[in-house]
Amino acid sequence: MDLLKGKKYNIITFGCQMNEHDSETISGMLQERGCQETFSKDDSDITIINTCSIRENADKRFFGTLGQLKKLKEKNPEYVACVCGCMMQQQHIIDTVKSKYPWVDIIFGTHNIHRFPQLLEKVYGEKKKMAEIFEDSPEIVEGLPSKRLYKHKAFVNVMYGCNNFCTYCIVPYTRGREKSRSPEDIVKEIRTLTGDGVKEVTLLGQNVNSYRGAGGNGKFYDFADLIYMINDIEGLERIRFMTSHPKDLSDKLIQAYVDCEKLCNYIHLPVQAGSNTVLSRMNRHYTREKYLELVHKLRKAVPDITISTDIIVGFPGETDEDFRETLSLVREVEYDSAFTFLYSVRKGTPAAEYEDQIPEEIKHRRFDSLVDAVNEGSARRNALYKGRVEKVLVEGVSKKNEHTLTGRTEGFKLVDFKGDRDLIGQIIDVEITEGKTFSLAGKVL
Ligand code: 5AD
Ligand code: SF4
Repeated sequence: MDLLKGKKYNIITFGCQMNEHDSETISGMLQERGCQETFSKDDSDITIINTCSIRENADKRFFGTLGQLKKLKEKNPEYVACVCGCMMQQQHIIDTVKSKYPWVDIIFGTHNIHRFPQLLEKVYGEKKKMAEIFEDSPEIVEGLPSKRLYKHKAFVNVMYGCNNFCTYCIVPYTRGREKSRSPEDIVKEIRTLTGDGVKEVTLLGQNVNSYRGAGGNGKFYDFADLIYMINDIEGLERIRFMTSHPKDLSDKLIQAYVDCEKLCNYIHLPVQAGSNTVLSRMNRHYTREKYLELVHKLRKAVPDITISTDIIVGFPGETDEDFRETLSLVREVEYDSAFTFLYSVRKGTPAAEYEDQIPEEIKHRRFDSLVDAVNEGSARRNALYKGRVEKVLVEGVSKKNEHTLTGRTEGFKLVDFKGDRDLIGQIIDVEITEGKTFSLAGKVL
């Protein structure tokens, strides 16, 4: 145990909130063993790079960062370089790391995060390199500590893995099959978090709509049941979740928005494409019409709901006409915000083998017009907020201006306003004075 005491570690995280939360767990385990976090790798004894494999640019950034660790190892032979996360669940990546980056000491994956402190002790104690990747298993390791990034909001995993196999996506291969935590474990964790000052939780899963947790009473609970249970937790003020697959969004969950006052009126509902041909080749199991109907139902039940999405352009075989359908869907829905992506070939996925790949310049041209359409919609939606009073959880000081605070509305819109730092962590009333394309400006009431 003492081998790790006093060591300084730095974690570099790529990718989604799931990865950010895994890094919080890694941090929690290291602090439990007496390590201290530092925010610069040049000043650390241990660096951990938590990788993402969702698109090719994430791979490239990882290898670039890994290259920079070489000189730290040369300066200090005791320095320990570790890599983990989604990329490490792919054998061809592990082979590349081992052959081209010999200064890496520890490789571990997404299923054995809990083993990291032991691997580190072995490296210090026995002076050898460690590579340990677990195969997926139905087991969930409970009770790991976590060092939260924020004091007043927290991520909570409700399930792991994905069974959907969208044809472009690597996640089912790197995160394994779906498994749900028990509702009691989730509620217990959130109670502990609220006891520690947390006001907002974001429930995480690749597709929370297929949550199916076994209760201690032998009954199974779906995601809407879970929301109702969490809504009863005293001290908790806001519930969010990520991500929701349109094919599994139930009427019961829509009703939970109406019944549960803590469930924020916000949904991230990835559409990916607006053409039925493309949706079918992506293996998404819904049509454009079904998706639009869902949006309509949501807005009818929860009139002020904000909606964000993910869209991929340049999926293999996407024609100009298919792309126009994506544009028209974006205009019809008028999203509050959208993450837009150029299709990226992922080795091992079905779409990587499709022959009708789209040339880069066409992808980029389509991407630019998509971004314009998305931004027009966001600007229009945000403009409607002028004059409204919104409840805002104050998150911190703006990165752009140290005299400005930032926070999030219930609908997950970013708001900038002037205010005292001791408002951080509180939910306050802010009057919106301006709606911009990507954020709102306001004044504290
Ligand atoms: N290329 C581009 N975007 C992708 N995504 C997932 N896989 C790919 C890929 N191969 C996007 C999807 C998903 C989001 C997290 O990343 O839009 O919803
Ligand atoms: Fe990937 Fe589709 Fe699973 Fe989302 S639902 S993680 S896009 S396979």
